[in-house]
Amino acid sequence: MATKPPAAFTLRRLGSADAAQYRALRLAGLRAFPHAFRPTVEEALEQPLSWAEKRLATKGEYWFGAFDARFDDTELVGALCLRTQEGKKIRHSASLNALVVDPGRLREGIGAALVAYLIAFARELGFIRQLTLTVIDGNAAAIGLYERFGFRQFGLEPDAFLHDGAYYAKQHRQLTLVTPTS
Ligand SMILES: CC(C)(COP(=O)(O)OP(=O)(O)OC[C@H]1O[C@@H](n2cnc3c(N)ncnc32)[C@H](O)[C@@H]1OP(=O)(O)O)[C@@H](O)C(=O)NCCC(=O)NCCS
Repeated sequence: MATKPPAAFTLRRLGSADAAQYRALRLAGLRAFPHAFRPTVEEALEQPLSWAEKRLATKGEYWFGAFDARFDDTELVGALCLRTQEGKKIRHSASLNALVVDPGRLREGIGAALVAYLIAFARELGFIRQLTLTVIDGNAAAIGLYERFGFRQFGLEPDAFLHDGAYYAKQHRQLTLVTPTS
């Protein structure tokens, strides 16, 4: 049986100090996949470095990044966010957001590693029972990835997204974490 090559990236939490790299990665993602994200490139360009710093330090949000091991784990090649909610009635439900992989590093397992990391982290928090996400209908790469992890579609919002003059539906998906501790 063929042995797998060692991972070409490492994973860790992101913070304000990673803002410049995160902003650059986000812009690269927006340019390459304009159909996948809410803001336009123009809107994102108006968001300064301080916006990214604030975003990565938002209370209740946990940001994770994949770093290229070939460059001493200094180059950010993927990111995503776990957004939690405050309040006894809703804190068991958190969401996966803002997943992006460097357009030059697709199909290397970075997206899957980030999603697995987020799920493990959410389990470790101990109070998360379910994860939700939304994805534009037709985003085959992201849908394939989410399906692989068991995120099941439970809703579809028609015409939620307007891109290049065409409307697209938005899928709502959910993954139940099977071993909640509370
Ligand atoms: C979706 C995305 C994060 C996937 O990242 P990635 O690092 O290339 O994905 P991986 O290499 O980890 O692939 C994991 C699985 O995802 C699925 N997948 C990834 N790319 C795919 C594609 N182009 N078509 C179909 N399935 C795909 C496959 O199931 C794949 O498993 P496999 O390689 O064993 O077949 C990446 O394409 C991306 O950044 N897209 C633009 C941004 C985006 O759509 N974000 C999500 C918004 S909801």
